[in-house]
Amino acid sequence: MPLAVVNCSQLVTLAGPARPRVGAEMRELSIIADGAMLVSDGTVERVGARREIEALMSGDCEVVDAGGRVVLPGFVDAHAHPVFAGTRVDEYELRALGATYQEIAASGGGIRSTVRRTRAATEDELVASCRRYSEWFLRTGTTTVEAKSGYGLSLEDELKILRAIRRLDSETQLNYVPSFLGAHDVPEEYRARREAYVALLIEEMLPRVAEEKLAEYCDVFCEEKVFTTDESWRILSEARCHGLGLRVHADQLSLSGGAQLAAELHAQTADHLEHTDAAGINALKEAGVQPVLLPGSVYALGHTRYPAAREMIEAGLAVVLATDFNPGSSPTPSMPIVLSLASTHLRMTPAEALTAATVNAAYSLGRGDSIGSLETGKRADFVIHDCADWREVAYFFGLEHARATYVAGRPVTLK
Ligand code: NIG
Ligand code: FE
Repeated sequence: MPLAVVNCSQLVTLAGPARPRVGAEMRELSIIADGAMLVSDGTVERVGARREIEALMSGDCEVVDAGGRVVLPGFVDAHAHPVFAGTRVDEYELRALGATYQEIAASGGGIRSTVRRTRAATEDELVASCRRYSEWFLRTGTTTVEAKSGYGLSLEDELKILRAIRRLDSETQLNYVPSFLGAHDVPEEYRARREAYVALLIEEMLPRVAEEKLAEYCDVFCEEKVFTTDESWRILSEARCHGLGLRVHADQLSLSGGAQLAAELHAQTADHLEHTDAAGINALKEAGVQPVLLPGSVYALGHTRYPAAREMIEAGLAVVLATDFNPGSSPTPSMPIVLSLASTHLRMTPAEALTAATVNAAYSLGRGDSIGSLETGKRADFVIHDCADWREVAYFFGLEHARATYVAGRPVTLK
C-alpha cells in the first residue's frame, strides 16, 4: 500500500547534487516547512509542500500523521564495531581511577579482552546478544550501520563475526554494511611472531572473506604498537586485489601516518584523525578520501584532542560523522549524541553535522544513490523526531527524540 507522511513541521530532505557535499553545501539541508512525502514500494516517490502532496494522494493510501514533528532521513552510521561479546565496564571503572586506554591494552585488556570473550561465543550467541544493539540503533534513528569484524582475529572467529553480521542484516530491520577488520590487533598467540599474523591475514583470511562475499570493505587499525604503515599498506593492497573497498583507522592516538597512507591508497575513508596535521588533510583532499570523525570515542576515553573538523571542511573535504560504537572506546550507538559533540567540540554547525551523518555517510559507504536523503527514487528510510525544529535533536541532548523509525517505508517494531 502506498504511504503518505503528512503534517511534518520540517521535512528535512537533504536533496542536492548527487555526490558528497563539501564546503558551504554542507549547510544546505533543503528543508520543506509543513512538508509531506509519498512513498510507494518502499521508495520515496515525491516530497513537497503539504498541499502539493495531498493533491496526489490516492484513496488507498495509508496516512502517517507526523503530528507537527520533524522528519529526517535515517542516520547512516559509517563506522561501528557492533558485534562483540561481553562489555568492558570494568575498564570503564579503571579509567575513572586513572588508568589510560593504552595502559589497559598493554596489560592484556582492551581489544584483546573482548577478543577472548568473542572467541568463546558461538555465532548464534552473537546474533542473539547483538540484536539488542540493532534495536538501540533503530531506536535512536539510525537505519544503516557499517559493521566491522575485528574481535575474532583468527580465520574461523572472523568468519563467525561476519556471518553474524550477515544474519543481523537479514533478521533485523537495521541495514548492515560489513567490513573485514582482521587487522584490528595482533592476537595474543602471534605476539612473538607478528609477521606470521600479517601473512595469515593476506594469504588465508582475505581470500576466504572475499570468496564468501562476507565483506564490502577492509579496514586496518594503523597505529603505533598495532599495525605499522608498512603492514597496513600490504594488507590493504591485498584487500583491493580482492575487490574490497578500503577504510583506515588513522592517526587516532598518535600521528602515525595513517591519513597519508589512506591518501596513497586512495582509500574510501580515513577514520578518527585526531592527530592528523595540515599535510595529512591536504593529502586526503588531493586523493579524494572522505574523513570519518568519531567524537564519541574522544569523549568516552576522556581525551581532549578532537579532530580538526573546521580545517577539513574549509579544505573542501566531504566530512562524515559516526559513532564508532564499540565496547571499549565508544560505547554509544547514538548519532544524536555524536551530533551534539560535533557542534560543541568540533565546531561544526548543526547543519554540517547532519549532512555528515546522513548523505555524506551514505556516499562513504558506496550507497549515495539509495540512502542518506529523502529524494525521489531513494529508499524510504526516515524517522519522526519529537521536536518542531530539527536542531533540537542534538541541542537537547541525553535523551532520544526519535519517535518512529521507518525502513523502506515500513515502521520498525521494537520489543
Ligand atoms: O575505533 N581504535 C581501534 N578500534 C576501536 C576501539 C575498539 C575497542 O577498544 O574495543 C576504535 O576506537
Ligand atoms: Fe573504530
